[in-house]
Amino acid sequence: MSLKNLFFKNKKDNFDTDVPKIVVGKRTGSSENYYRLKDNIIYYSDNGKNKVFQFESSISGEGKSTVVGNVAVALAKSGKKVVVVDLDFRRPKVHRMFNVPNLNGITEYMLDECDDSQIIKTSEYGVDVVNRGKAAHNASIIFTSNKFKALIEKLKENYDMVLFDCPPVLLVSDYIHFSKLADTIIFVVCSGVTHRSQLKEAIELLKKCNPNILGTVMTYRNAGKFSLKYGGYYNARYYRDLKNHYMQER
Ligand SMILES: Nc1ncnc2c1ncn2[C@@H]1O[C@H](COP(=O)(O)OP(=O)(O)OP(=O)(O)O)[C@@H](O)[C@H]1O
Ligand SMILES: [Mg+2]
Repeated sequence: MSLKNLFFKNKKDNFDTDVPKIVVGKRTGSSENYYRLKDNIIYYSDNGKNKVFQFESSISGEGKSTVVGNVAVALAKSGKKVVVVDLDFRRPKVHRMFNVPNLNGITEYMLDECDDSQIIKTSEYGVDVVNRGKAAHNASIIFTSNKFKALIEKLKENYDMVLFDCPPVLLVSDYIHFSKLADTIIFVVCSGVTHRSQLKEAIELLKKCNPNILGTVMTYRNAGKFSLKYGGYYNARYYRDLKNHYMQER
């Protein structure tokens, strides 16, 4: 079967336009926390022995993309050569966060419509980006292919750190494929949003694939705006609808 049959050509992303913000480098308190995480990543990298960091969380909206983007900028500011790879094929946000076009991404690379040099976008933040590109269903075929593995190997040769922005563990099973390629996992938990049972389930699933979880990052939402929006995750029906939505996307 031709690979082309696996891709939707002109499918529009149907998620909200919520774009995570880069705050590192601006005068905000949270920058300090990203610098602390950056120091842990540099320490763990052990002078280039560990390069690939997989960012995960239990459910959607816990702040993974925000953490990945900001810690990538903190690493770049420390002189590290960093690339962020958008592996959330259902809600890709990395290109928006770094303000690069969503052209010539992983999908186009898999279809031989671009090569591995065109897939890399240089952002204004000193961080390079590999974006998703066109929408694709059955992304696990991409993530298990030798071509995709070769791309990650090439990134490892050319960068100090390769950061994976991933979809939520309890909604999408792609973490199984990523953990084969990553050196360690960094787990994001949103205080007051994630249920203890969800956290436990997600950690157990991840540990079966890669017991090497470097640590946990806790994010907080300000009362008011975000608590209203994200309170929905406590609602079982909302959670089920979201899960169904993700399953249809596959
Ligand atoms: N610590 C925080 N405080 C307030 N808002 C935040 C925080 N972290 C993230 N946000 C906001 O919450 C929204 C969701 O964050 P983000 O996209 O990083 O989550 P995510 O875990 O990547 O979600 P998804 O799984 O859907 O990709 C964004 O609008 C982001 O700006
Ligand atoms: Mg995300």
